Amino acid sequence: TWNMHAFKERAIARIREQVGTGRVICGLSGGVDSSVAAVLIHEAIGDQLTCIFVDTGLMRAGEADEVVNLFRNHYNIPLLHAEAADLFLGELEGVSDPEKKRKIIGKAFIDVFDYEAAKVGGAEFLAQGTLYPDVIESVSATGGPSVTIKSHHNVGGLPAHMKMKLVEPLRELFKDEVRALGRELGLPESFVGRHPFPGPGLAIRLPGEITGEKLEILRKADTIYLEEIRKAGLYDKIWQAFAVLLPVKTVGVMGDGRTYDHVCALRAVTSSDGMTADYYPFEHSFLARVSTRIVNEVKGINRVVYDITSKPPGTIEWE
Ligand code: XMP
Repeated sequence: TWNMHAFKERAIARIREQVGTGRVICGLSGGVDSSVAAVLIHEAIGDQLTCIFVDTGLMRAGEADEVVNLFRNHYNIPLLHAEAADLFLGELEGVSDPEKKRKIIGKAFIDVFDYEAAKVGGAEFLAQGTLYPDVIESVSATGGPSVTIKSHHNVGGLPAHMKMKLVEPLRELFKDEVRALGRELGLPESFVGRHPFPGPGLAIRLPGEITGEKLEILRKADTIYLEEIRKAGLYDKIWQAFAVLLPVKTVGVMGDGRTYDHVCALRAVTSSDGMTADYYPFEHSFLARVSTRIVNEVKGINRVVYDITSKPPGTIEWE
């Protein structure tokens, strides 16, 4: 049987051997993969590792603070925290094409990361939380379909121009094994069990133009939705769940007044690898409860719909 303790010991020995006395930088996204990679590498080489967290302003509510607290205060891992929300929102202003958004975010991310990385004098290694399925996917991309569905931006996937040697201790692991390794390393369950979150963040859950105001509305709806999912004990049964704020306004009635506000779509899927997915069959009473709470508590939303498209033909994210 697969022994995570033994894997951890071997991985630590390998990292030490590869890195020697060199310096390593690692981009943190708040997700499971980069967090586990960072903690493992820190266990191997201590403060030769510096983490970089780019706050794009496109994170969910409270997420940036959670990441900074966990790494800086709990693990004492040296962390550079770049607050770049203004830059990202500025670059995205007026842009509604999904691919343009992705490219702008990818480029801004690299610019900020480069700038921060330069502060770590002479880092020779770049750590990434690349998993086995990522390796397979990039290999099969040469022989696979030639259509790009979405240009992925991944916090782990930085460009070769950085000319650094890669440290990728998770390359042999699948997602569930990474979670097991995270537990072995003592990462809190709230981190280890997290749903995946895409590199471009909330930008691809806001079809149309992105504004600070829409981001705030989306964060509130998303928080309520996930709160109810946790309360119902469903979080671990679902691969990913999130709210999408549509650029569509519809008429409603509240009290004795007319409303004219945004539609919020809810998405939840089961999946084992994100490549295919089924929509989650919530009880109607659950959906009704979430809908009532969102419409009552979130100013700017007056209608809630549930996405029952599986993948394929839908993708998990809306952009
Ligand atoms: P789709 O929407 O293509 O998503 O069905 C499949 C999985 O990938 C995540 N996703 C991303 N992850 N950078 C990432 O790191 C990206 O640009 C990106 N786009 C989608 C998505 O959340 C789902 O888990």
